[in-house]
Amino acid sequence: MNRSYARIAHIFSELKGMVLSMAKEKFYITTPIYYPSDKLHIGHSYCTVAADTIARYKRAQGYDVMFLTGTDEHGQKIQRIAEEKGVTPQQYVDGIVSGIRELWKMMDISNDRFIRTTDEMHVKAVQKIFTKLYEQGDIYKSEYEGWYCTPCESFWTEVQLKDGKCPDCGRPVEKMKEGSYFFRLSKYQDKLIDLIRNNPDFLQPSIRQNEMLNNFLIPGLDDLCVSRTSFDWGIPVPFDPKHVVYVWLDALTNYITALGAFSDDDEAFKKYWPADVHLVGKEIVRFHSIIWPAILMALDLPLPKQVYGHGWLLLDGGKMSKSKGNVVDPVRLIEKYGVDAVRYFLMREMPFGADGTFNNEALINRINSDLANDLGNLVSRTVSMADKYFGGTVCDRGVTEEVDSELKALAESTPHTVEKLMDEFQFSNALAEIWKLIGRTNKYIDETMPWALAKDEAKKPRLETVLYNLCEAIRIAAELIAPVMTRTTPKILEQIGAESRGWHSSKTWGAQKSFTVKKGEVLFPRIDVEAELAALEAETGKNAPQEIPKPEPKEEITIDDFARTELRVAKVIACEKIKKAKKLLKLQLDLGYEKRQVVSGIAQYYEPDELIGKKVVVVANLKSVKLCGEESFGMILCASDENGNLKIVNPDGEIAIGSEVR
Ligand code: ME8
Ligand code: MG
Repeated sequence: MNRSYARIAHIFSELKGMVLSMAKEKFYITTPIYYPSDKLHIGHSYCTVAADTIARYKRAQGYDVMFLTGTDEHGQKIQRIAEEKGVTPQQYVDGIVSGIRELWKMMDISNDRFIRTTDEMHVKAVQKIFTKLYEQGDIYKSEYEGWYCTPCESFWTEVQLKDGKCPDCGRPVEKMKEGSYFFRLSKYQDKLIDLIRNNPDFLQPSIRQNEMLNNFLIPGLDDLCVSRTSFDWGIPVPFDPKHVVYVWLDALTNYITALGAFSDDDEAFKKYWPADVHLVGKEIVRFHSIIWPAILMALDLPLPKQVYGHGWLLLDGGKMSKSKGNVVDPVRLIEKYGVDAVRYFLMREMPFGADGTFNNEALINRINSDLANDLGNLVSRTVSMADKYFGGTVCDRGVTEEVDSELKALAESTPHTVEKLMDEFQFSNALAEIWKLIGRTNKYIDETMPWALAKDEAKKPRLETVLYNLCEAIRIAAELIAPVMTRTTPKILEQIGAESRGWHSSKTWGAQKSFTVKKGEVLFPRIDVEAELAALEAETGKNAPQEIPKPEPKEEITIDDFARTELRVAKVIACEKIKKAKKLLKLQLDLGYEKRQVVSGIAQYYEPDELIGKKVVVVANLKSVKLCGEESFGMILCASDENGNLKIVNPDGEIAIGSEVR
């Protein structure tokens, strides 16, 4: 009796395990909430596309995913822009936010929720949080001292000032105090140090851990100012409404208020919190890995499992920004090349944790080589051959040869390799593995030479097996690219006549028994690189009208003042890097009547070899200086622009060295 009871109990516990394992595990991923800007650039899309890729991958694996993005809408800047435009801040943000939502739709971003910090649910929850923290002593009232710009009505800290003046308008500032509320960040310092030291998963990639420890945590944390009285476009402090909640307490809490925390309906919060990963750009890692966990500690809530700080997408060496005028518009890129090409490029071109450079030529080259050549051709060749030799339908005839096993083995191992890399957010390497399979499949065509097999009626069964193998390898690759390339997967599956069976089916060679192909559109048309670059140049480059801000004029001089400067043409005869100084190059110049050494801060812009033989203009009567231990006799003239470009100035054509420039 006892024994059979034990048996039943055992069966029950097994059943319970099965049911539990059938219940989906949750996965909560977020992007930062974006500042409303009328033009989000491709750099913003980078983070959203990465988050979307993870979200799609996790859903495909069977997770119950919550993917959150949204907008960070309060603050003085918004208030000021709205005033300039003659609308209310709410009207202003409403317009912009709808544009942002459209962009995400256009980019196939599959977010489950979209939070706006102006949502009533968020506002109320932040007020509750603020009050709770105040009542328990984690927020206290004190005085905030800073530099005030009266025309801009803004407070700046010492470090924010630009040459001692307002960084926004350049006008003088004065020291002022305002009563403010402070969050006791300093209290959490030791706990935060422990968190980062003892939980290496919490902050990734791991290089960010030392940045936080050495730059902020170990030197010591100051309490954080969390309210302002100098503007009112923000969430009012409920018990002291002259104050509005300032920036990070309003922004960071979105990750929980979006799920209903501190509201009557907190079911989603109970289900999805803590976040599995907050994806953020590296410049806001500090807020997410120090301030955010401290707020959660104060609220006695679980901490996110991970904060992942990705790198920046750079354009011509500078961080992309709306103000620099060097922005690449994601809408234009999508219109030109399609969503999938843009998404593929963003995820393939650079390792996720590191910075990368965006440039149109690299994008076009990727489209031509990886997408049009490797992937597109493979699909179209296979479909044409299945069509031509078998009227469209092929199955495995079981006539195998040695070459098949290598293809099959790679097709079977690739999904597992890709999963491992995707779990580590190594999108670029994951795609590279899929492209190895695509490359191997192309090679299989060359090896098996279907066109030769087709000439011999007796080899038809072998030919059919070859085509089946090609279709099956393509099917597997198509399933694997789905998290990144949302539109290409269904197109490929339709062309080869495969059912969509989802991520897990990529692990089973032979999951699809026969294929009935159907010719379709060219997946990725080849682009004429030269013509395209010229067209882009006309659209965005030097020919495009650009707003150039008027510089602050310098003091007027006379011709005599100018004549005091001796400028001469010289030729670079040798050039090398200076070991101790990353920015400096040491140049030997020939002025005809003498040779001299000049040290110049242009190492980031020129390789030493590029300069040898070039003519330059040198300030010949400049007092000599020692830079990093090297004497410099003069200075060479360079022009630099707002976009971070720098070019050496040189004479237009042949002119003798030593010539005076005047
Ligand atoms: O920081 N390359 O908003 P934001 C890569 N509202 N990522 C980039 C980028 C580039 N060139 N430019 C911007 C904010 N980003 C706050 C966040 S979260 C509680 C509040 C990324 O609109 C940037 O790193 O300035 C950040 O992660 C995100 O876009 C939003 O930036
Ligand atoms: Mg920013």
